[in-house]
Amino acid sequence: MRETNILIEKAKPDDVQEMLLVINKANREAFVGIIPKEHFREPIITHEQFNECSERMTFYVHRQKGVVVAVAALGAEDQDCGRIRWVYVLREYQRQGIGTALVLHLEREARGMGLSRARLVTDNDATWAIAFYERLGYTLTRRVPNPWGFDSWMEKPLSRLGRE
Ligand SMILES: CC(C)(COP(=O)(O)OP(=O)(O)OC[C@H]1O[C@@H](n2cnc3c(N)ncnc32)[C@H](O)[C@@H]1OP(=O)(O)O)[C@@H](O)C(=O)NCCC(=O)NCCS
Repeated sequence: MRETNILIEKAKPDDVQEMLLVINKANREAFVGIIPKEHFREPIITHEQFNECSERMTFYVHRQKGVVVAVAALGAEDQDCGRIRWVYVLREYQRQGIGTALVLHLEREARGMGLSRARLVTDNDATWAIAFYERLGYTLTRRVPNPWGFDSWMEKPLSRLGRE
């Protein structure tokens, strides 16, 4: 799985504006086509919501030429389970292994926190995201109705031996 030489760093306070740009741009490009207009939220995350979220989650970034081009966040849902959210890679940087490097980094951090599973939620119609997570070893655990379809909950056991 490609992730060599892709540096993932913990986000710094100064990165917030760039992270918001990445998340909101990548979200619009990916989801405007599958979420009906009346339910589509833009921005998907405001500065204030980001601040609230970062009290519970740690954000990570990948930069190119000093600029944030990809984001992801990790939190603990309970003593066993990590929650992965806000996985976004700008379109022009997709399919280069950056999303994989981000998620594998989050999984290593989660293991370091003593967590034994990682969970995430994505839209059931986001076939690209489901393919991406399945390739990383995530499997569907629940389908929860939302106003336009279903959310897919996916999970992966985090092996202690570091197998990915
Ligand atoms: C989903 C996302 C994070 C993947 O990031 P990425 O850096 O492009 O992913 P990678 O290059 O690591 O892809 C690894 C594998 O996942 C699968 N994959 C990734 N994008 C895919 C797509 N659009 N369609 C089908 N499979 C895909 C492929 O198997 C790919 O391997 P390959 O390129 O050798 O075929 C990125 O496409 C993205 O940010 N999309 C918009 C936002 C989003 O959907 N976020 C996640 C849900 S909240």
